Amino acid sequence: PPAGPMGIDPLRSVAKEMKFMTGNIRQLLGSGHPMLDTVSKYYTQSEGKYIRPMLVLLMSQATALLPRSPRSENSLKDAVDAPITSSSVLNDTNPDSPLTASSVESRDFANDPSIRPSQRRLAEITELIHTASLLHDDVIDTSVSRRGNPSANIAFGNKMAVLAGDFLLGRASVALARLRDPEVTELLATVIANLVEGEFMQLKNTALDEKHPVWTEDTVSYYLQKTYLKSASLISKSCRAAALLGEHPMEVVEAAYQYGKNLGLAFQLVDDMLDYTVSGQELGKPAGADLELGLATAPLLFAWRNNKELGTLVGRKFSEEGDVQKARDLVIQSDGIEQTRALAQDYVDKAARAISGFPESEAKVGLIDMCSKVMSRRK
Ligand code: FPP
Ligand code: MG
Ligand code: MG
Repeated sequence: PPAGPMGIDPLRSVAKEMKFMTGNIRQLLGSGHPMLDTVSKYYTQSEGKYIRPMLVLLMSQATALLPRSPRSENSLKDAVDAPITSSSVLNDTNPDSPLTASSVESRDFANDPSIRPSQRRLAEITELIHTASLLHDDVIDTSVSRRGNPSANIAFGNKMAVLAGDFLLGRASVALARLRDPEVTELLATVIANLVEGEFMQLKNTALDEKHPVWTEDTVSYYLQKTYLKSASLISKSCRAAALLGEHPMEVVEAAYQYGKNLGLAFQLVDDMLDYTVSGQELGKPAGADLELGLATAPLLFAWRNNKELGTLVGRKFSEEGDVQKARDLVIQSDGIEQTRALAQDYVDKAARAISGFPESEAKVGLIDMCSKVMSRRK
């Protein structure tokens, strides 16, 4: 990553930790079935951006200097590191039992004392849930590529891609249970439900009369609610969970959540903007995919406010010959892309403000820097 002012890379505070991320995630995904093993680890082969785990680690570090107050007795913390494998039906004893001290396995990490093992594990869990959602998403969207490679549905077929996604969610759930923190478990379980709710909102827009689509303020609020559920929920609730695992007071937990929520909304707004502005080559996945899928995202919704002609195209989901090109041209000629960027900027500004009270640290600089990285990213 490019160095910031004074030649310091603001994300260097987690750089060492991040080196071990892929290996640790792959450890959580081991399966005795060789094909399942291959499919479920497929997206860990190409380097993802690891935005969610990076945010969890940065949030953990940035809050480490703040006061802590124990929330409850937690005598089972040792179980966090116990190896997670599937039980063998041929074995009577329960090999999955996490509670034997001898089964505590050391993972590789940079051993930064400001990050708790539970927070590090949370970082890995967020990436598992995210990757599971990508496996399912690529089936739903009939994608052909992801991270510069054929997507899993193309490489292995829909059935295995869906099952591998379920397997990731299963392993994420086991790892989550091992944190022995009911509030954090509830947060991340809610994220999984939210991902599905967001995807359903996208599939079936109940705010829109498809025969006579008209632009109203609800059009944008429906889009933002969907965006929260499908993207910002995971980021915000995992930032919140990081602060909870750090046993910080409620104001800190709330600040972490507000940071994640606003950054997450901005992140998806920019994602929807890049679908219009960047080539598929650069994105590592097809560009212009949203219109092809019949999806009206922020740039188009803002363009539609000033150009009612777009309503007809929205109503038939850009399905007729030339619709996609027509809609794309109208969006590009409008200020829809600029309005999307401006709204994303409002959100990152709010994210930065949410953590302005945190003590100055390299990790705080990293969190603030994530805000500008979200705005300047090209993929
Ligand atoms: C990518 O969006 C997809 C998501 C952010 C979430 C998808 C959620 C599901 C498929 C729900 C069910 C899954 C789980 C694991 C509960 P996109 O299609 O806009 O982005 P892309 O261009 O990267 O494909
Ligand atoms: Mg997709
Ligand atoms: Mg999708």
